[in-house]
This record gives sequence, C-alpha cells and structure tokens, in this order.
Amino acid sequence: MFKHLSIGGQGCCGHHITLGGLQKVLKALLVTPLEHNRRVLEVGCGLGYVVVELRCMDLPVIAVELETQAEVLRGAMVEDENVVIVPMDVRDFRLETFQRSGCTTITCFVGIGSVTEHVIGLFLDSPMAVELAYLVPHDTTAKHEDRRVWGRHDVETQDFCVQLAGSRGARRWVKVVRKKGFYIGRPRG
Ligand SMILES: C[S@@+](CC[C@H](N)C(=O)[O-])C[C@H]1O[C@@H](n2cnc3c(N)ncnc32)[C@H](O)[C@@H]1O
Repeated sequence: MFKHLSIGGQGCCGHHITLGGLQKVLKALLVTPLEHNRRVLEVGCGLGYVVVELRCMDLPVIAVELETQAEVLRGAMVEDENVVIVPMDVRDFRLETFQRSGCTTITCFVGIGSVTEHVIGLFLDSPMAVELAYLVPHDTTAKHEDRRVWGRHDVETQDFCVQLAGSRGARRWVKVVRKKGFYIGRPRG
C-alpha cells in the first residue's frame, strides 16, 4: 500500500520547480506506452519533492542523492517499499548498475553540468531507458542543448520554461526527451 512521503523542511536543496511546472513536465514525460511497468531513477532527490510526486502517480522510484543529504531524506520520509534511496554521487553510477535497476525513466533536476552530462550518457547508452527530464544547466540554453546533444539522436524533445520556488522566482529550462519508437523488451536497432 502506497504511503505518502512527508518532506521535513524546505531548506536543504535550495530550489525546486514549482508544483504546477513539475506536474506539467511529468505529464509530458510519461506519455510513451510501455510493455512493462515504469520505474524512475530520480537523480539528486534532495528531500524528496519529486519523489513524492512520482509516488502519487504510483511509480516505483530509485532515488540517488549525495551521502550526507541522503541521510536527511531517510529521516524525512515515511518508509515506503517502492522507494529505494541510494546514497552516492550519481557520477559514479555506472551503466551496468542502471541496467540492473530496471529503470525506464530518469528525472534529474540538479542543474549541474557534470551531473547532467553523466545522466544523459546513461540515458543514451542504456537500451532500457525510454525517457528523461532534466533541468538544463545554468550555462546552456534549451536550444543550445538541442544542437549540441540531441540533434544527432532519434529522440523527441520538448522544452519547458519553469519557475523555481525558493530562488526568487527565477526561471529555468527543463528538457523532456523521449526515445522514438521505443518498446520495452524490443528496443530498436
Ligand atoms: C536543487 S536540488 C533538487 C532536489 C529535487 N530533485 C527537486 O527537484 O526538488 C539538487 C540536489 O541534487 C543533489 N546533488 C548534487 N550533486 C549531486 C551528485 N553528483 N550526485 C547526487 N546528487 C547530487 C544535491 O545534494 C541536491 O539535493
């Protein structure tokens, strides 16, 4: 039985996308019909703001967070067997581990270049990964990201301009990427 998680405070992770923006992004992200159930890798989960939304959609989640922060998250949430918290730097999260995790979907609203690059690498290299949403890092624009990363891949992309709560209403880009023609169990190519 799904138990709603509770967030123990706002201060830990600095900023997050407003709830309306997050819900719009998740709706756009999760449109590909899959043969098997979705499972989400939520990168840099902070206090679990995105985890809560994903669990409200009844999706199992693997949440990766730096070690010190992960302990805070553990203390802040009600036990839920469909959430696994992995305390680590996601840049050490290898492709084989991703494959074993059974994740189809990645969310990464960290907004740090090196973290985002690593996550994009996992997404592109894994035949299991179908869809990805990420906060475009500070020093790039959504259009620049399209040319640099996505132009040569068989994907659909969508850009969302989102407002950040806790950052004086600053606006940032979120990119949603879906592999085209994907069918779990029978990836193309
Ligand atoms: C802005 S918060 C976002 C929290 C949450 N995902 C949300 O959208 O509300 C970014 C989080 O990413 C975590 N983070 C930063 N670098 C990371 C890394 N290399 N590996 C795992 N987590 C990281 C930070 O500790 C922080 O909690």
